[in-house]
Amino acid sequence: MYIGLDLGTSGLKGILMDDTQSVLAEASAALAVSRPAEGWSEQSAADWIAAAETVLDALARQVSLAGVTAIGLSGQMHGATLLDSADEVLRPCILWNDTRSHAEAAELDDDPMFRRISGNIVFPGFTAPKLNWVRQHERALWDRVAKVLLPKDYLRLWLTGEHVAEMSDAAGTSWLDTGARDWSDDLLMATGLTRQHMPRLVEGSAVSGQLRPALAARWGLPSGVVIAGGGGDNAASGVGVGVVKAGDAFVSLGTSGVLFAANDGYQPAPETAVHTFCHALPGTWHQMGVILAASDALNWYGRFVDRDAAALTGELAGVQAPGKTLFLPYLGGERTPLNDAAIRGAFFGLDHATDRAAGTRAVLEGVTFAIRDCRDALAATGTRLERLIAVGGGSRSDYWLTAIATALNVPVMLPKAGDFGGAFGAARLAMMAATGAGAEIATLPPIARVIEPDNALLDAFDAGHARYRAAQSALRSLSS
Ligand code: XUL
Repeated sequence: MYIGLDLGTSGLKGILMDDTQSVLAEASAALAVSRPAEGWSEQSAADWIAAAETVLDALARQVSLAGVTAIGLSGQMHGATLLDSADEVLRPCILWNDTRSHAEAAELDDDPMFRRISGNIVFPGFTAPKLNWVRQHERALWDRVAKVLLPKDYLRLWLTGEHVAEMSDAAGTSWLDTGARDWSDDLLMATGLTRQHMPRLVEGSAVSGQLRPALAARWGLPSGVVIAGGGGDNAASGVGVGVVKAGDAFVSLGTSGVLFAANDGYQPAPETAVHTFCHALPGTWHQMGVILAASDALNWYGRFVDRDAAALTGELAGVQAPGKTLFLPYLGGERTPLNDAAIRGAFFGLDHATDRAAGTRAVLEGVTFAIRDCRDALAATGTRLERLIAVGGGSRSDYWLTAIATALNVPVMLPKAGDFGGAFGAARLAMMAATGAGAEIATLPPIARVIEPDNALLDAFDAGHARYRAAQSALRSLSS
């Protein structure tokens, strides 16, 4: 049996999977984000450990964990978890959707070496500019930094006692030579760091260490349980939904929104604001467009009108042509295609008839159009999408999935366990690490339904996207 743990932004999810890849148990624990200043987004690393304890307690209550041989990890990417030489956490983790280091990011991005070696724009949410922000604003603390860990790799430190990262998440730091799958001494040096500050690197499907005996005893696991490298949540989801070779793609409606395509080789295209990272399997890479607020936008609107997301989508009838009201989901800036940390969201086209449901539709459509922008950015690199698999909490809304199928004019497949892509992928990576299996076990999961584009609405969604682009230009001129 294998455990997959996915350290997301809104919660930590865990699954227990058997050798036939059937899910035997699942559990989750919520996590809160703190936003102490505009553009900031932080979490306490201690909360991650508490959430992992809650999830392991819950899994062990459902099924005996005595047959577990490996654990895989998936996690929110880019966060800077700063440790001193005694592995004490120095400050709250600065998360992937924190844009405070936009000036530091622009400065690093101005040095062509970063795009050339890392294959990506240095986005404000990536890890390296965060370290420069800390050096600038919290110098005494920066002087004490002995190791920089990504969120799931801090969880690994707790599980194994070792500092280890894997390629897919490391590619989002701006310190990795993404083509060579190794830390770049030049990129590290450009931010005042060396390899000593970095964890050791393994592939996602390789063994990264062993579970500490005290933890094994606590949850009744046998001795010798291995921890797989795992993956950044998007790469792990890719493994979970079988998106591991060129032509396969998924859309993720989590806190962030992601349009992810697997590639045959390393195809960097930083000028498009597409991300090009290592995949979680050896010798493979992927591209993705990332928007900072997908479910996060719907949850924001829910707080605004005092309803939860499920209640809001539940009160919608079937998909209609996009209405007059437009929503731009840039609540904390945007990555693909804008690379703009300063832009903020907007509602356009409000009138006396605009009610709560019209607002919900506008939010779902706005995120859908932002994902279509990602599709266009991927297309500019030559990547074509024939069909998509949907993952993430937002995939529970049929309205949203039909809007995406129609706006992108591709069928969208909904896996039976759509909410567990990252955790399921992490469990598959655990199985690979324990058994030596490879990409062949990362097959398409059981599909509950295929949502086809609504042909009668294709033109209306094209027109809606054109209006969205016009509103985006207007908004950019206002915020510049
Ligand atoms: C990817 C990204 C987000 C986080 C969310 O570049 O920043 O998708 O990984 O968990």
